[in-house]
Amino acid sequence: MKIGLVSLLRAAWIAAILPILVASLPCACLSSFYRHVLTFASRGKIKPSSSSKFTVPQRFFLHFYVVSVAWTTVLLLMTWFYAYQIVPFSSEPFHYSTVASHLTGGSHILSIHKSSSTPVEHRHSVWKSLFLLLLMEVQVLRRLYETVYVFNYSPSARMHIFGYLAGIFFYTAAPLSLCSICVPEVLSFAAHRMAEFIVNGRGRMPNIEFDWLGYVKPLTNLGWCQWIGAAIFIWGWIHQSRCHSILGSLRNHGKQSDEYEIPRGDWFEVVSSPHYLSEIVIYAGLLVASGGSDITIWLVFGFVVANLVFAAAETHRWYLQKFDNYPHNRYTIIPYIY
Ligand SMILES: NC(=O)c1ccc[n+]([C@@H]2O[C@H](COP(=O)([O-])OP(=O)(O)OC[C@H]3O[C@@H](n4cnc5c(N)ncnc54)[C@H](OP(=O)(O)O)[C@@H]3O)[C@@H](O)[C@H]2O)c1
Repeated sequence: MKIGLVSLLRAAWIAAILPILVASLPCACLSSFYRHVLTFASRGKIKPSSSSKFTVPQRFFLHFYVVSVAWTTVLLLMTWFYAYQIVPFSSEPFHYSTVASHLTGGSHILSIHKSSSTPVEHRHSVWKSLFLLLLMEVQVLRRLYETVYVFNYSPSARMHIFGYLAGIFFYTAAPLSLCSICVPEVLSFAAHRMAEFIVNGRGRMPNIEFDWLGYVKPLTNLGWCQWIGAAIFIWGWIHQSRCHSILGSLRNHGKQSDEYEIPRGDWFEVVSSPHYLSEIVIYAGLLVASGGSDITIWLVFGFVVANLVFAAAETHRWYLQKFDNYPHNRYTIIPYIY
């Protein structure tokens, strides 16, 4: 199951990245392909108003964050409980095999990772996945809040239904990819616990201790990679929050408006799409925190970069065409480079 899920995720990310990369190639013979990709990927101000076929309102972005908060929270809680069971605070090295084997009614879970890593390495990778899910939760909770309270979507802003489905895919597959290294055993563990609960009833379930220190302490023992990654994540997170506030403040709340203005302040002084740049910084933080050895997480990062650089190029073009006084020293998305 593990191989199946990871391969599927990787194939899906590659399938999502390739069309964007091909459409971005500066080749005249690809112009019609480029226009098709643009139709599917553009939204809001960069979506031509003539192409409203098969579109949904851009404020449906809210659905992405409802899905991602619900899904990330479920994965986070299941992984946390599992991680606690395999490496409780002050446990002995072999505690995992007895506890997991007892709770899951067999040792096949242990055998999954036995072949590729030692129990200690495996525990570390489970806690690392949990750490990544925690960061993701912090990100999607803020995005949910902003979509409801900060952004003021214009009534005419729309996105293609394909872009909408791609968004739902992204926020389902991204949290799964962050913990893909342990998700099969986490799901299997949760299923066993659920089956045990159904068969035995609540009264005959083993007592679950809520040793809060045991749930948190192993996180503090993670390596420097995780803390550097978290620092990069927080840096991007803070700037994205500021840039979203700036965008949200450009229109009067309560009043539905189609007006666009030149945003100013924070990273807007350097690039046209600093909220996309900060999203890339956020995912770079996740990649560093993962240790950089998981190809699936590299592919998530690759998709975020390809998708947002593509959107940023269109946004920059749109600003230059729309405003004669647009600051010409602003770059598209990468300061002083592009
Ligand atoms: N991880 C990913 O692959 C991914 C993909 C897509 C988006 N995202 C993230 O989601 C966030 C939102 O993305 P988005 O594409 O929806 O951003 P966007 O098109 O810039 O829109 C964000 C909000 O700001 C408004 N706005 C934008 N420019 C404005 C201007 N010049 N004047 C007035 N209002 C303006 C928009 O109004 P309208 O309603 O009129 O458009 C919308 O309400 C970004 O931080 C992005 O990084 C991530």
